[in-house]
Amino acid sequence: MGPAPNHEVERHAMNGKRVLLIVSGGIAAYKALELIRLLRRQGCGVTCVLTDNGGQFVTRLSLQALSESKVYSDLFSLTDESEMGHIQLSRAADLVVVAPATANILAKMASGLADDLASTVLLATDKPVLVAPAMNVRMWLHPATQANMATLAQRGVLVVPPNEGAMACNEFGPGRLAEPPEILAAIEQILAPAPGPLAGRHALVTSGPTHEPIDPVRYLANRSSGRQGHAIAAALADLGARVTLVCGPVTIADPPGVTVRHIESAREMLDACQSALPADIAVFAAAVADWRVDQAATGKIKKQPGVAPPGLTLVPNPDILATIAAAGPNRPRLVIGFAAETDDLMANAQSKLRRKNADWIVANDVSPETGIMGGMENAVNIVSADGIETWPRLAKDDVARRLARRIAEALA
Ligand code: CTP
Repeated sequence: MGPAPNHEVERHAMNGKRVLLIVSGGIAAYKALELIRLLRRQGCGVTCVLTDNGGQFVTRLSLQALSESKVYSDLFSLTDESEMGHIQLSRAADLVVVAPATANILAKMASGLADDLASTVLLATDKPVLVAPAMNVRMWLHPATQANMATLAQRGVLVVPPNEGAMACNEFGPGRLAEPPEILAAIEQILAPAPGPLAGRHALVTSGPTHEPIDPVRYLANRSSGRQGHAIAAALADLGARVTLVCGPVTIADPPGVTVRHIESAREMLDACQSALPADIAVFAAAVADWRVDQAATGKIKKQPGVAPPGLTLVPNPDILATIAAAGPNRPRLVIGFAAETDDLMANAQSKLRRKNADWIVANDVSPETGIMGGMENAVNIVSADGIETWPRLAKDDVARRLARRIAEALA
């Protein structure tokens, strides 16, 4: 598993790094071959573990030829155990990558099962683990898979989320394995992060709405696509920060290279934010529901003819920004809130700045005629104790990049 011969390798930051690639069963396993080629071209050593199901889709011979290394499959192979052993196999790498990762291997990882070489290696490893899921859209969206993904994310497993598109099973939706260059980029970010101005900093970002249950089928929520918050998380990661993104229910993909904690309610968002501390930077872009139903019904509330609709007693949710920004040893150095307003934008933003003890408020007018809510663009003002800076209308990605650069300047 040594680096590739010099003549093939341009000087590259990943030269000499070692990846243990676990190939599990799925039609997308053929893309693992391309991934190996890309990794070898960067000078990365690759050793493959092929599951029995993976072996139905790609051959050991192809993996071996491209990786130029022995391929491991058998947990009880005496030769392998005496040569290397599954513990050593898991320790000799700088990173363990599972691509494609099937619903089955993700479920095994989440529950700590070790019934073959791949799952045993994953349980025994002390190295970072990156998974690139690939499966049928319904399997991906199934609550069991989503719960397994949430468990793995909580444990720090990194994810290259699947893409949306037409699938081999004639269905359409998320579940397609990310393309090899996307997986390569995620690997590079872990093994050879570009030294950016935010290297060594930890940033906490909230994004999306929260859902506050009324009963098991109904909820209260604010409108929020999560686009701006997700773009900020990605932009901070691009500048070298380690980013934890706490996000409510959204339909957009997790940004690559970011640790994502998926939550539903405001109270869960607060818990996830508090457990992500300490952080140097905190950006609160989520549209948190201000209230929740005092006692959510445990069963579905039924309509009854002639009976008035149920009254809802609302109680306030915790203010996550104000809680994290309150003075204390864990207060991030730079705390940034948002103010999405339809009236008196600046007055409201300035009052939020003081009331919530934020350092900056990113204020935007979200009146329906602006098209900002749910759209791709944003026009923001940065409100701080130093004054107000008005930015032009920009794509949300560009607002995010500009904000990330401003954050880097402020912390320099
Ligand atoms: N916020 C938060 N927790 C809450 C409410 C808001 O963290 N429970 C954060 C938002 O993420 C945002 C900022 O506070 O960064 C302002 O949110 P906004 O909804 O505009 O303000 P509110 O405090 O809810 O005030 P109002 O609804 O009265 O405008």
